[in-house]
Amino acid sequence: MNGELYPDDGARISVFDHGLVVGDGVFETVKVTNGVPFAMTRHLARLSRSATGLGLAEPDLDQIRAGAMAVIENSPRLPLARMRITVTGGIAPLGSERGGSPLTAVVAMSEAKPPTPTVDVTMVPWPRNERGALAGLKTTSYGENVRALAYAAGRGGGEAIFANTAGGLCEGTGSNVFVVSSGRLLTPPLAAGCLAGVTRALVIEWTGAVEEELPAGALATADEAFLTGTTRDVQPIRAVSGTVLPAAPGPMTRKAAEVFAMRSAESPDP
Ligand SMILES: Cc1ncc(COP(=O)(O)O)c(C=O)c1O
Repeated sequence: MNGELYPDDGARISVFDHGLVVGDGVFETVKVTNGVPFAMTRHLARLSRSATGLGLAEPDLDQIRAGAMAVIENSPRLPLARMRITVTGGIAPLGSERGGSPLTAVVAMSEAKPPTPTVDVTMVPWPRNERGALAGLKTTSYGENVRALAYAAGRGGGEAIFANTAGGLCEGTGSNVFVVSSGRLLTPPLAAGCLAGVTRALVIEWTGAVEEELPAGALATADEAFLTGTTRDVQPIRAVSGTVLPAAPGPMTRKAAEVFAMRSAESPDP
C-alpha cells in the first residue's frame, strides 16, 4: 500500500479516504497463475485510462507494477489467485468534493477458484447508462453491479446482464458478452457502454469476432453465447433468464475457449 508491504491484517486505509467515502477510485482485477500475472501491461494501461477518465491524477504505474510483483513474491504460491489493484482519490472531505491529497494505491491478493464450465445468466431490469460520466471506466462505484449480481443470484443466475438505455445488449457485472448468430461471432461495441475488457479485446484479436450493436433480446435467441472476463476467461452461457441455449459450449464457443487458452499460455503479457 503506497509503496509499503503489510500483512493482510495490518493494511489499513483512513476512514476519510475518498474511495471509501464516495467510491472515488478505480481498480483492476488481474489473474495470477502460479505466481505469474496475466496481461499486466493491458491492466495497468486501463487503470490509467480509468483514473484519468474519473479525473484523478495519473497513477504511478511503475510503482504499482513493482508493488504487484512484491505482493506476489511475498505471498504463498497459489495455483490461481486474484490480484486487486485499487487507486483512490486519497484523503478528502466527507462529501463528493475532492481534497488535494496524493492518491491511495493498494495491491491485494487472495486465492481464486477456477470458473465453472458453464454459467446461467439473468437479464436485469436496470439499464447500463452508456452516456453516463462513468461509462466504460472501471471505478470502485460498483454498487449497481453488486445490486444486479444479487438480483441474478436470487434467480439462480451466476452473472447479471445489462441492456443499455437504448435497449442494446451491453455487458455483465464483471464480464463482457459474445453471441453466435447465423454463424457469426459478435460482441457489442464499446459505444454500447460496456467496459473495454482485457479478455474481450484478446478474444476479438485472436478469433476475429466482430463488434456489432445487438438488441438485448439477441442473447436469449443466440445459437450459442459466452462471457469473457479475467476471472472467467471464455465461459459458455448455458441459459439466459431461464431460456436454455441450444449448446453450451457450441462449436464457436469451444474454438474461442481453445484459442484463448492456447494463446494466453504462450504469452503471459500479450
Ligand atoms: C463491468 C465489467 N465488464 C467487463 C469486465 C471484463 O473485463 P476483463 O476481461 O478485463 O476482466 C469487467 C472486469 O472484470 C467488468 O468489471
